[in-house]
Amino acid sequence: MSRGPGSQCLLPRLSAGAPSPGLLPGQAPGRPASLHEHLALHGGRPSCDGSLQRRRHLIGEVERAGLTGRGGAAFPTAVKLRALASAPHARVVIANGVEGEPGSAKDKVLLTLAPHLVIDGAVSAAELTGATEAVIVTHPAACAAVRRAVGERRRAGYDPVPVRVLAAARGFTAGEASAVLNWAEGNGAVPTGRPPRLGGRGHRPALVQNVETLAHLALIMRHGASWFRSAGTLAEPGTILVTMLGAVQRPGVYQAEPGMRVSGLLQLAGGASAEPAALLIGGYFGTWVPAAEVLPLPFSAAGLSPLGARPGAGVVAVLPAAACGLAETARLARYLARSSAGQCGPCVFGLDAIARELEQAAAGGRCDLPRVRRWLRDVTGRGACRHPDGTALMVASALRVFHREIGLHSRGRCSATASAGILPVTDPPS
Ligand SMILES: Cc1cc2nc3c(=O)[nH]c(=O)nc-3n(C[C@H](O)[C@H](O)[C@H](O)COP(=O)(O)O)c2cc1C
Ligand code: SF4
Repeated sequence: MSRGPGSQCLLPRLSAGAPSPGLLPGQAPGRPASLHEHLALHGGRPSCDGSLQRRRHLIGEVERAGLTGRGGAAFPTAVKLRALASAPHARVVIANGVEGEPGSAKDKVLLTLAPHLVIDGAVSAAELTGATEAVIVTHPAACAAVRRAVGERRRAGYDPVPVRVLAAARGFTAGEASAVLNWAEGNGAVPTGRPPRLGGRGHRPALVQNVETLAHLALIMRHGASWFRSAGTLAEPGTILVTMLGAVQRPGVYQAEPGMRVSGLLQLAGGASAEPAALLIGGYFGTWVPAAEVLPLPFSAAGLSPLGARPGAGVVAVLPAAACGLAETARLARYLARSSAGQCGPCVFGLDAIARELEQAAAGGRCDLPRVRRWLRDVTGRGACRHPDGTALMVASALRVFHREIGLHSRGRCSATASAGILPVTDPPS
């Protein structure tokens, strides 16, 4: 199902013609929406406070909308809201805008251009769950916009709960839910793996929700479940922000609908800038897939399932035929191994060993595939967080898709004509 044009680029130079109301319609290119502009565009935030019955009804509306998390795991948001609402006192809502993945830009763009929508969602989540504080943990690049927005709201006496802004710690694992909670509570941004909603180690019970999820929540509170369901598919309703990078004409952030063809997604970004060989779908914990097989498929968990992929954190990277998929995967594996929070043996030693084997193969050596596959199995489920699991998924898909390339390398050859380095492996300057 489609809502008007259905999809839009959210990068400033392309932001014209947005469907209304969407996540980022209308504001001047590159400039954060002021509170005044935000209210003119979306109307006021409906109060979600009131009787227990009303709050239950509104959480039911989120469930009817079918909103799922946009931070990677697509977990149903209503289930998390209900769990926190039934937790003991002094609950906290945390908006996760860490965006530790260097290839992703959607949360920075959203926080920079529509900070009020995210804050509305966090405040509504606090009201729905009885939380006494909302904390926006933002990528440093969006910190000024979010602080300005919170200042405007404070001066206008707009929010019923205190809203705190915190610049995120950097690093891939700093965005994991328990790491964000630790950071918000004044500790190191290190995963502990303990489900945040249960508290533990002196934590308040917390709801950690990706900032895009909260922006959708803010719109569902205004327009209802059926409005949200007018985009996307029955099983995966709503829109999704997608970061397109690699060999596309216009890399950037686009608002897409689950169910549209992957080829359509590429068209949003102006089409491929070189013949595509493979796509990495879902981010650095995602899945490599052959371009020819994935382009006709719908961009949704159901549509991508024949290739074992899913939209994940909404990152789609296009690898051109001139690049070496093995070298690219080795770079990603090294980056992810380096990003380990250094607490769990299988993560620290296993990811390093996997990255080393891939680096050797990329440099022209033989890759001991059975050994790498065994290591991938060994690290899965063995960390306090899912960092090793996500890394193993991505590497396992590379072994399938780049099998021919791995064979070439073992004979001292490589099909690439361009040097490696398509996907970013350092955090961009803030
Ligand atoms: C290593 C690691 C890094 C993560 N980084 C992020 C991140 O930067 N932003 C994010 O929203 N979720 C991230 N997540 C997922 C969070 O743990 C959590 O599932 C998410 O914030 C929940 O929000 P959602 O239900 O709205 O998706 C990460 C998970 C792992 C295992
Ligand atoms: S699995 Fe890795 S990233 Fe996660 S807590 Fe353990 S060492 Fe840190």
